Amino acid sequence: MRVLQVSAEIFPLLKTGGLADVTGALPAALASAGCEVRVLLPGFPAIRAGLQGEQAVGRFTLPWGETVGVLAGTLPAVGGAADQPVRAYVLDAPGLYDRAGNPYEDAQRRPYADNHRRFAALGWAAERLAHGLDPAWAPHLVHGHDWHAGLAPACLKLSAGKPVPCIHTVHNLAYQGVFPAETFGELGLPASAFQVEGLEFYGQLSFMKAGLYYADRITTVSVTYSHEIQTPEQGFGLDGLLRTRRGDLCGILNAVDTAIWNPATDVHIPRHYSAEHLAGKSHCKAALQQEAGLAVSKQAPLFTVVSRLTEQKGLNLVLAGIDTVVEGGGQLLVLGSGDHELESAFAHAAQRHAGSVALRVGYDEPLAHRIFAGSDITLVPSRFEPCGLTQMYGLLYGSLPLVRAVGGLADTVVDADLATLEDGTATGIVFANFSEAHYRHAVRRALALYRQPRTWSRVRQTGMHQDFGWTRSARQYHALYQSVLTDFARAHP
Ligand code: ADP
Ligand code: GLC
Repeated sequence: MRVLQVSAEIFPLLKTGGLADVTGALPAALASAGCEVRVLLPGFPAIRAGLQGEQAVGRFTLPWGETVGVLAGTLPAVGGAADQPVRAYVLDAPGLYDRAGNPYEDAQRRPYADNHRRFAALGWAAERLAHGLDPAWAPHLVHGHDWHAGLAPACLKLSAGKPVPCIHTVHNLAYQGVFPAETFGELGLPASAFQVEGLEFYGQLSFMKAGLYYADRITTVSVTYSHEIQTPEQGFGLDGLLRTRRGDLCGILNAVDTAIWNPATDVHIPRHYSAEHLAGKSHCKAALQQEAGLAVSKQAPLFTVVSRLTEQKGLNLVLAGIDTVVEGGGQLLVLGSGDHELESAFAHAAQRHAGSVALRVGYDEPLAHRIFAGSDITLVPSRFEPCGLTQMYGLLYGSLPLVRAVGGLADTVVDADLATLEDGTATGIVFANFSEAHYRHAVRRALALYRQPRTWSRVRQTGMHQDFGWTRSARQYHALYQSVLTDFARAHP
């Protein structure tokens, strides 16, 4: 079965968050499950620079008259894909993608004014490839990720070519790719698409809605999130459509590329360790404390955050709980970038509690690995969380996650209470309500658990033995692909 995966980011070439980890791991995981996956990516400079064995495949003209090329090549062989490098198609369109700033925003963090064109190009490229642009390879099915790929299902459904089924995966409904109505004319879609039964969204147009409306099936990155987005609280205005489509919507939990995230083999950490041989973890902790300017202390529980600094991640709770951490003899290390107010609030706390609180601003992949290895508690108190990967990295690295019971966090962490401690299923600390009081109480519970070394190490062992590998989720995607293809063959005999 040939699958074209469409996304804006992919690890290791371009990553702003968990989307890249997932799209980077899926092709190899799906290959093991029996699919032949190729990926389609915008030609951002980092992607162009990493593409190996580049060859021109063809050219096509976009609805606004610009002609772009499609290149084919392979991605660097890393992680689970080390044995079988992934084949990639990349849009050769420097006018659209070669910009200073991140993939979506300029250096002043303003979305690029032509984002509708930049990502419509991705949708039309998927359609062109599905309809034979590369004479040597065409997909049976197109699988797009997040709003950046949202137009692909609309292009596929509304173009003249033979029908090709498509799946749209929601990694985060908070980001929708909403553009003014005036841009619709540039998208190359029939006027009938600009209506409620289409991609119109409160007088504007939404790429995410296009994905949700036109895809044959919709997936989310955890089961709980697939239910949450059907409610007004978490539906971001799309819950009505999602309720209508609930029969075509399911959750498939993200997983971890354990060839990259494994403390026994991790190339970024100072000492390797495993659940059976934990000695190296103390070394990693001491090294991290030293590196971050924290007091080097075995006794002090080290709370850590590795995160985009945004509203979603509940970092105001982390700020409000700093006194509880410090008064309880703990330390806090934050690695993140994003919201400037959050950055300066953490910087201020680090000054006030020098030696106990530290902040590293920026995006630093190797440091993230060293943090999970040195950390005792991974904080993820999110307001909402489609899946979340850092709590899983924390579990595998022996850093107990402290999370809010929402989305994928609720699906991956088992709260340590009397019952779960007794039956040996506890893996972390989970709190329910998004409030400072509930968060502080969770921190106090983590501190208390840390003071009971035998119980602590039992919970940590359970966490480190969790199976978060891709095998199970890849099988679920494979089964979904098969069922879509079967339904499709029946509907289009
Ligand atoms: P999201 O995709 O919402 O940001 P996830 O938990 O799914 O959240 O994924 C975040 C990914 O980005 C993880 O791989 C995490 O390690 C990484 N990450 C986040 N912030 C940073 C940072 N400042 N430096 C390095 N890695 C980071
Ligand atoms: C999004 C979500 C995060 C999820 C990631 C990968 O960025 O915010 O929860 O883990 O996508 O699916």
